[in-house]
Formats: sequence, structure tokens, C-alpha cells
Amino acid sequence: MDYLVIARKYRPQTFAEVAGQEVVARTLTNAIRGHRVHHAYMFTGPRGVGKTSMARILAKALCCVSGPTTEPCGVCEHCMRISDSAHPDVTEVDAARFGNKEDITRLLEDVGFAPQLARVRVFILDEVHMLTGHSWNALLKVLEEPPPHMRFIFATTEVEKVLPTVLSRCQRFDFRSLDLPVIVARLKDIAAKEGAKLAEPVLYRVARAAGGGMRDAQTLLDQLIAVSDGAGTEDDLDLLLGAARGEDLRDMLKLALGGSSAPALVKFDACCSAGASASTILDQLIEHLRAIMLVQACGPEAQAVRRLGLPEEQLKVLAAAATPEKVLRAAQVLTGTQQHLRHGADPRLALEMALVRIARLGEVVDLERLVQRIERAEAGVAAGPR
Ligand SMILES: Nc1ncnc2c1ncn2[C@@H]1O[C@H](COP(=O)(O)OP(=O)(O)OP(=O)(O)O)[C@@H](O)[C@H]1O
Ligand SMILES: [Mg+2]
Ligand SMILES: [Zn+2]
Repeated sequence: MDYLVIARKYRPQTFAEVAGQEVVARTLTNAIRGHRVHHAYMFTGPRGVGKTSMARILAKALCCVSGPTTEPCGVCEHCMRISDSAHPDVTEVDAARFGNKEDITRLLEDVGFAPQLARVRVFILDEVHMLTGHSWNALLKVLEEPPPHMRFIFATTEVEKVLPTVLSRCQRFDFRSLDLPVIVARLKDIAAKEGAKLAEPVLYRVARAAGGGMRDAQTLLDQLIAVSDGAGTEDDLDLLLGAARGEDLRDMLKLALGGSSAPALVKFDACCSAGASASTILDQLIEHLRAIMLVQACGPEAQAVRRLGLPEEQLKVLAAAATPEKVLRAAQVLTGTQQHLRHGADPRLALEMALVRIARLGEVVDLERLVQRIERAEAGVAAGPR
């Protein structure tokens, strides 16, 4: 069997399979059931959350031999051809990749032709915001008087670039970026089908690294399975993400929080030499401090902690080793460093300074106490003897 990347192999094939977009799926299936399918839909939303998948499912629902149906069979000639992007009545065009936009204009001018195999023709136009002057005009023209056998499905990640006149002629659906548990559930399912053994915390980290996009999460899962032979650990994931090894990172943090700046700096240097970038290390440190803060505030079993996908035992050790006050201050130091990086500071130097400052937090706190004591003493003196 040909090697098929996970993101394509597990493309959802039915409305029910599209995770996290239930509102869109329900509205579309209701329209199909009620014979009220609109002639033009606009699917908007972030990358890799199911727009193209949903467009193809809708095309199948309309063209399936047993259709129009809310449950396309997946095995008839229509369904199979649509899956292979080879149905004569289903045109799928990606405006971002289409070299010559004039060709899109020509395609739009051809929509008058009747379908060859199915009962309707479906025109899926991806990244519709990339159209240029002439093709916009052609599009507007067909949307003003759509031929009765035509259904249009547009998809875009940048809806604000779509002409308002086009938008007003479409029924719009906003696809949501996906919640972590939704992504993790799907990853778990896929990992099981691929025979991979991945711990739930690792899957949570994969999902978090993907920032709410299912495609990115699945691509990362694919890479993780490939590098680890199906038994990916936190270390494998760190390697893939160009991050410092979790254990080294926690050592570094423990040393800094414990006031030992020199060995913390040595650790930092070693992580950089091993290939991690300073700014990724900074993100990791902040992520860890956040986890420690949550452990201190809500306990290690809290859902918010588990979702971070960091090893619970080690977090507990770190949480016990520093006061909440110090953890908060360290987090402030690091978020400040993040701002400096945004303004162009040298990442390595900025992070070294941050580590030293964290290591000296104890002294700063003590100085503050000292000031308070002096102030109290002075107030006492001013009040004079009673
Ligand atoms: N909601 C989802 N449920 C299940 N799988 C999904 C979902 N969204 C995306 N995927 C997975 O990601 C892959 C890409 O999804 P799709 O092409 O539908 O995304 P898209 O929203 O069109 O992205 P883009 O804006 O980049 O074109 C699919 O093959 C599928 O494996
Ligand atoms: Mg798409
Ligand atoms: Zn079918």
C-alpha cells in the first residue's frame, strides 16, 4: 500500500466525522433533509480545521447515488470519484495555487453546462480571497444568476478580503479553531489505528503545539510516529519541535529558582548547543512556570495542569521547591523577556539575564522585607516613646 500521510488518510468522510464543527454540520444536514440547500456557501476559519473536508462531504451528499442524503455512502462511483478529486461534475480549484487567474474566469464562465453524471454540479473554490479583478467579476455574475444545477462552495482563511457583494450572496459558516480535548480525542483514535503507543500527555502537547488546527496536529503526530517507531515520548517531541529536552529544562529552572545562576547558565548553554533555540527555551520555561503556578494553586490533578501535557511528578517537585510568590515573579521576569525579544533584543543574552535575575529573586525579596522592616522601625521611632 502506498504511504499516505496521516492528515490525508484520516480526512473525515461523513458529517459526523468532522470533529468540533457540529453547528455547521447540523445546519447543512438540516438543509439537505429539508431540501433547502443554498446555491452558494462560504466556509471561513483558520487553517486545517475542516473547511475543505466539509466541502467535499457536502459535494458527496449532493451527488451520491442515494442522494441528496445526509449520509453519503462513500462507495458509489460519485462518492469515490469525489474522494479522488476526479468527478467530472465536481470542480475543485485552489485560487492560491492556480497560476493563471484568467483560467478561473474561464471555469466560471463555463458553469452554464449541465452536469454529466450527477444531478448537480458542484464548484469548490478554495482560498477564494486570492481571486483577482476579472475573476471577481465573473464570480459576481454567476452568483447573481446562478444556473439551477450549480452549487458553489467557497472556502477562505481571510474572509475580510472577500468582496462584500460576494459575501452577501452566500450563506456563511464560520469554522471554529478546535479545542484541545477534541483534537486529542481524534489523535488518540488515529494513534490506536496506526498501532502507536503514545501517552495522553504527549498527545496534549502535540495538540497544543498545533494551536487549534487539526491538520498541523496530525502532521506532527505523523512525524512523531515516524521518528519514534510509534512509541513517541516527551523527548522525541522536544526534538521535533526544536525544543530543549524536558528534563534539562526542568533542571535549568530548578537551579535558577534555587538561586544557583552559574550552573543554570551552563545548562542553558548545553541546551543551545544541542540545537534548541533560545526563544523556544523561553516559551518552554514560561509553559513550565505556568504549570508550576497551576499546581500550586489548584493541585497537580487539575484538568488545566493535565492539559499542559507535562510530567506530573516532576512538576510537583518543582512546585514544592519554590514559593508561589517566587514563581510569580519568575514568570514576570520571563514574560518581560518575551517583550524584549519582540523589540529585537538578542535572545541568548536576554535569556541569560533573565536566568540570573530569577536566581537573584531571593535576594530581592529579602531586600524588600528589609525595607519594610526599616520603614516599620522608622514609624515606631517617629511615634516616639509612649
Ligand atoms: N474538524 C476536523 N475533524 C477531523 N479532521 C480534521 C478536521 N479538520 C481538519 N482535519 C484533518 O486535517 C486535514 C485537513 O483538513 P481540511 O483540508 O479540511 O482543512 P481546511 O480547513 O480546508 O484547511 P486550509 O484552510 O488550510 O485549506 C484533513 O485531511 C483531516 O485529516
Ligand atoms: Mg482547505
Ligand atoms: Zn455515494
